[in-house]
Parts: sequence; structure tokens; C-alpha cells
Amino acid sequence: MTEKVTLNDATTNSGYDLPLMSGSMGPKVIDIRRLYAETGHFTYDPGFVATASCESKITYIDGDEGVLLHRGYSIDELAEHSDFMEVCYLLLHGELPNRDEKDTFVSNITNHTMIHEQLVQFFRGFRRDAHPMAIMVGVVGALSAFYHDSLDIDDPHHRMIASHRLIAKMPTIAAMAYKYSVGQPFLTPRNDQSYAENFLRMTFGVPAEDWKPNPVLTKAMDRIFILHADHEQNASTSTVRLAGSSGANPFACIAAGIACLWGPSHGGANEAVLNMLDEIGSVDNVAEMLNRAKDKDDPFRLMGFGHRVYKNYDPRAKVMQQTCHEVLDELGVKNEPMLKLAMELEKIALEDSYFVERQLYPNVDFYSGIILKAMGFPTSMFTSIFALARTVGWIAQWNEMVEDPVQKIGRPRQIYTGEGPRKYVPLHQRG
Ligand code: SDX
Repeated sequence: MTEKVTLNDATTNSGYDLPLMSGSMGPKVIDIRRLYAETGHFTYDPGFVATASCESKITYIDGDEGVLLHRGYSIDELAEHSDFMEVCYLLLHGELPNRDEKDTFVSNITNHTMIHEQLVQFFRGFRRDAHPMAIMVGVVGALSAFYHDSLDIDDPHHRMIASHRLIAKMPTIAAMAYKYSVGQPFLTPRNDQSYAENFLRMTFGVPAEDWKPNPVLTKAMDRIFILHADHEQNASTSTVRLAGSSGANPFACIAAGIACLWGPSHGGANEAVLNMLDEIGSVDNVAEMLNRAKDKDDPFRLMGFGHRVYKNYDPRAKVMQQTCHEVLDELGVKNEPMLKLAMELEKIALEDSYFVERQLYPNVDFYSGIILKAMGFPTSMFTSIFALARTVGWIAQWNEMVEDPVQKIGRPRQIYTGEGPRKYVPLHQRG
């Protein structure tokens, strides 16, 4: 028997039964697909705070409990026991790979890490001080001009090749964006190195000497990729799904996701956290900053704090904080003033009634920037690293959207509050 809720419309003194749908976990949803046809009314939910845009099996978040599951596996366990290539396979295929499946997947990704030599020319058109995210939006969008052999989104084989290409080439493109900004030569990927090692070498290696991997930093990089891999229907993932719903090719859709992620309220927050800590400078200034964050007339927000879904600790932030201590210890900078300031800021904020009442906790971006800065990345590269890691989540969600039998082009409606119909006034008659 279908569960239902009844909507009582006082304007027509009518009642409408709307089906109630249950998922495997999480809140039930009211199926409003027939609402307009039966009532003539739309729903209104700016920012989609209470709106389920799709059905998905990939990631589950319980914001009240601070739970994040990827295909049922908790982020804590994946960060502790898995690696990014295995998490990519899990997100794309729904199950952890066996040894043969993992070896084949890693080989596929490894053998797609190079980019076309003509694409290298695209970098030359940017100023050297171009933001790496501007470069990534442009270069990733341009990939669709190179891979006409994998643009048929109705062909599962094409979809998987495009997915592998995107996951594989992101580290190469991101590292090249950094190299271009510092005027150093591009390094090409090596097939005898892991995904994280390749990215660190292409970023920090130079032709003049052999680059030596640091296992602690490589593990930290791989874990940072895992922590950023996917996160349900966040703004950039919803952008990728909406772009994909028109039938746009996967390269263009991922470029749209990169553009959305760039915003400081979303993936740009990790860069904004470091800039904020720089601006605060010392613990003495924390109180003033918190007052600014609470002041509704001041656009300043405490970057790295708060979340649309988590009203508890972001489980990724806890793992990130632990990784932060490991990396700073390894680098011999555990007394890094930025980390001490961040921990003091977190302590003071979590004792402040404004943040407690609004359930504002550190999110994934609060500690990630401190680690990346300690590893040698400029703040301008932080969001590019987020985009690199989130590509697998975006493309897994894109594949799920394309394969969804009920998916259709996304086309929200509105509540119109503008002018009613009026006659045109010739220019000479206007005041
Ligand atoms: C990411 O969606 C995802 O899953 C995103 C992400 C992912 O993995 O894809 O998790 C990645 O984007 C993490 C979030 C990174 N952004 C930041 O750290 C920027 C700072 N955070 C805020 O901008 C804010 O918390 C958001 C954007 C993250 C969430 O905004 P919401 O959902 O619109 O928050 P809200 O308006 O419901 O907040 C409730 C109250 C409001 O005050 P009142 O109107 O109730 O008085 O809390 C206030 C907000 O003004 N508030 C903050 C605050 N965050 C919310 N006040 C000060 N500082 C903050 N950081």
C-alpha cells in the first residue's frame, strides 16, 4: 500500500493525496511530480534546501549524525584502509574491486594520464598569473574537442572511456596549471608511479633533478583525494547533473562543475580559509573576526565553517585534522602558527553561542588548506586539487543520471513577482 501525505488546499477547499517515497536510508520524500497538474501550484524552495532532485545509490549523508557513506562504506574506513583508485572504482561501479578488477582499473587510468600535445598549446594563451581554476575550466572544456571517439553519451563504452580519461587527466592538467603559473617546464606523467605520486612529481619535480617521493606526503595526498571524491547532490554535482540532463558531453559537464566549485561558498572555501587565517594573523584578533562573522550587515563568513547538510562535525574534517598533524609532524613544522591559529579559532568558535545555536562546525575545507600549504602548494591551487579529486564523484553521478530511466532535462519553474502585462511606450513619450 503506497504511503501518502494529504495536501489541504484552503483556496479550493480540496485535499490532494501525494505519494510518499522511501529510500533505503534517510528521510522519506513527497513525490510532487503530479502536484502542478492536480493543483495548479508549484513548490518554492530556493537553494533546494528540502528538495530531492534525483534518486541516487552513490553517496549517503546524515547531516545530524555526521555520517558520510560511499556505496555504504563510511568515509572513515575508506580513508583509513582504502586508496583513491579503489574509491574511484567503488564510486563508478558500486562495489569494491577484487585484485584483477583493481589492477585493470588502475592500468586503464594510468594509460590515459597524458594529454594531447595540441592541448598543451591551450596553456600558452593564458597569462602566467591566470588562476589555475580559470585554466582548468578552459582546458577541461576543450577536451571535448579532442575526444570525438567518446562523446556518444548513450553508448556505455563511450561513457566509461570518457570517465577514465577525465579521472586520469585531471592531475596532469592541474599540475600543468601550476607549472605554467611559476614558469617552469611541464613534466609528463610516468606509468611507474601511483596517481598521487605522479601528481606530486608533476607539480613539484623539475627536469634538473630526480624527484624523490615522500611516502607520508603521498599517503596524505591520496587521502585528501578520497575525502573530496564525492558528496551527494552538492552545488557542483547538481551543476554537472543539470548540464548533463540536456545531453551535453561529459567533458563540457565537468567543466561546468569546475566553474561552480570555484565559488568561495563551495570548493573555493579552502583557499578562502587560508586567506582568512592570514587576515586574522593572531589569536588576539579571533574575537573581532567572530563578531564580523556574526554581523548580518557584514558579508564576512567564517570560512571553513558551516554546511548546508552537516549540523554536526563534518566527518571529513576530523580525518583531515588528523592528516594535518601527520603531515606537519613529517615536515617538522608541527608548531606551524597557521595550524595553532586554526585550532584556537575552532576551539573559540565551538564555544560561542552563535555557532553552537546554528550548529556550525568545521567542514572539509577548514584544515585541508593548512595541509596543502605545508606541502608547498600555493593557495591558488587548493580548489584545483578539490576539482581534481571531485571529478570521479561528478562523473559517477553523471553516469548515474544518464542511466536513470526517469531522468529528463532539468527545467525548474519560478514564482513570478515582476510587472504584469503593459503597453509599449514610445521613446518620445517617456519621462
Ligand atoms: C563545501 O554541499 C556540499 O556538500 C559542499 C561540500 C562538498 O563536499 O561538495 O561539502 C564542500 O562547499 C563545504 C562548505 C565550504 N564553504 C565554506 O566553508 C564557506 C563558509 N560557510 C558558509 O558560507 C555556509 O555555511 C554554507 C554556504 C556552507 C552553507 O550555507 P547555508 O546552508 O545557506 O547556511 P545557512 O544559511 O542555512 O546558515 C544558517 C545560519 C545563517 O544565519 P541566520 O540567518 O540563521 O542568522 O548560519 C549562518 C547563516 O548566516 N552561517 C554562518 C556561516 N555559515 C552559516 N555564519 C558565519 N559563518 C559561517 N561560516
